[in-house]
Amino acid sequence: MTRAISLHDVSKSYTRGVRVVDRLTLDIAPGEFLVLLGPSGCGKSTVLRMIAGLEEITEGRLLLDGQHSNDLFPYERNMAMVFQNFALYPNMTTRGNIGFPLRVENRGEDPSVRVDATARMLGIEDLLDRFPSQLSGGERQRVAMGRAIARHPSAFLMDEPLSNLDAKLRNRLRAEISRLTRELGVTTVYVTHDQAEAMSLGDRVAVLRGGVLQQVGTPRSVYALPRNVFVAAFIGTPRINLLRGLVRAPLDGAMTISLGKQFLRLPEPLSLDHQLLRVQQGREVIVGLRSEAVRIAKREDARPGEVVLTGLVEHVEFQGHEVLVHFNTGSRPAFVPDLEAPRPAARPSRRRRREGRSVLGRLRERAGVLRAGRVVVLDDDPTDQDPVPAEGRLPGDMVVRTTPDIDLRYGMQVPLLVDIAHLFVFDQHGERICPAPARLPDLEE
Ligand SMILES: Nc1ncnc2c1ncn2[C@@H]1O[C@H](COP(=O)(O)OP(=O)(O)O)[C@@H](O)[C@H]1O
Ligand SMILES: [Mg+2]
Repeated sequence: MTRAISLHDVSKSYTRGVRVVDRLTLDIAPGEFLVLLGPSGCGKSTVLRMIAGLEEITEGRLLLDGQHSNDLFPYERNMAMVFQNFALYPNMTTRGNIGFPLRVENRGEDPSVRVDATARMLGIEDLLDRFPSQLSGGERQRVAMGRAIARHPSAFLMDEPLSNLDAKLRNRLRAEISRLTRELGVTTVYVTHDQAEAMSLGDRVAVLRGGVLQQVGTPRSVYALPRNVFVAAFIGTPRINLLRGLVRAPLDGAMTISLGKQFLRLPEPLSLDHQLLRVQQGREVIVGLRSEAVRIAKREDARPGEVVLTGLVEHVEFQGHEVLVHFNTGSRPAFVPDLEAPRPAARPSRRRRREGRSVLGRLRERAGVLRAGRVVVLDDDPTDQDPVPAEGRLPGDMVVRTTPDIDLRYGMQVPLLVDIAHLFVFDQHGERICPAPARLPDLEE
C-alpha cells in the first residue's frame, strides 16, 4: 500500500511565536518521489518528523490518504525513516539489523524470507553476517535502506541519507535509491540541502526557505521558471548570475536595463514580457542570467535576440570538459540572504521600515512573500560595503561557461553575447517579473 500525504497549513513552533515551519501546504501523490530542498536550518527535518509522527504539529492538518492523522502514533503510520547517520545496532549483524523491525512488529511470519529478498534487491547478500563495524559507509547506508524496505512501509521518509558519504558513492546510491523507490512504487519524501541531488531524484521538488514554501514543481519547471530570486539562485550550477539593474523605459526610445557601467538593450519589437517591465521604469531590479544565457563570441556573430556586453576576465576555472570564466562587467551582484555568508549587521533602511507598515507591505506579508524575511537585499545604503562573499566565491560579477578550446587569460576583454530570450528579471522584493509571473506553472499546483 502506498500513501497520499497532505499537509494543510502546517506550522511548527518550538518556542511560542517562532514558527520554524510556517503554514506549509503540500500534497504528495501516492507513489510520488518528492524532495524537500532548502538550506540548513530551513525546517526540512522538522517537516519530515511531523509526517513521521515524531514531532507534534503545532497548527494545521496532516492527512494520510485523506484521513486526519495529526494524532496517530508513529507506528500506526507505517512509514519507514532513513537518516543521515545510519543508526544501525552495532551488536547486530546485517541480517539482525534488517530483520529487527520485522521482529518487533511480530507479524507471525519468519523474517528471514523478507530479509533475504531485501538483501538481494540491494545487492548485499554477502554482507548479511557482518557487523556494522565491518562495513564501509556505503554498505552501512545500504543496510539502513534495507531495514526500511523490508518492512514494506506505506511511505519512505529519508533525511539526507547520503550526506555522510563521499561524492562517488553518493552518486551511485542516488541512482540506486531512485531505481528502488520507483520499483517499489512507494511514496517517498526525501530531504536534502543539495540541489543537484534534489533535481536528479525528485518527481517534484519543494523548495523551503526559513520554514516557508517558496515553490513546488518538477525539477524542470523550478529551474526554468523560478518563482523568486532565492529559488533561481538555489537551483542550478554554476549559480545563476544575479546583477543589480535599473530599468529605463523612455517614452521615445529603446528600453534598457542598465547594469552599472553597461546596459542591456531590449530588442524591438518588445516581447510581451518585456513590455510588462515598463512599469518598473526608474526602479532597481535584479537581472538573472544563467550560464546558458551568455556565450563568448565575436560581436559580429551576435544572433537576433542577442545583445553584447563586455567582460574583463578575472579568473579562469578549468574543469576538464568545460571552463568557467569569471568576468568583471562593472555591475554589482545582488545579494541573496541565506545563500551567502551573513552580512555584517546593517541598519534597517528607511524604506524597509516603511514597507512593514504600508498596505502593500501588509498584503505581501499576508501573501507570504515577506514571512521568511526578504528574498533579496537591494535597498541598502550605497556606501555600505558589499556583502561578504561566500566562502570560496571568486571575484567577478558574471560566470560564463565555455569550452576548453578558447584560450582566455586574466585581464583580457571579451565580448559576451547575452540571449535576451533567457533573461530573468526579479523585482526589488526578489519576485520574478520576467518571464511574467502568470507563466508560473505550479505553486500548490
Ligand atoms: N527540538 C528543537 N527545539 C528547538 N528548536 C529546534 C528543534 N529542532 C529544530 N529546531 C530549530 O528549527 C529550525 C529548523 O530545523 P530543522 O528542521 O532541523 O532544519 P533542517 O533540517 O532544514 O536543517 C532550526 O532553526 C532549528 O534550530
Ligand atoms: Mg535536517
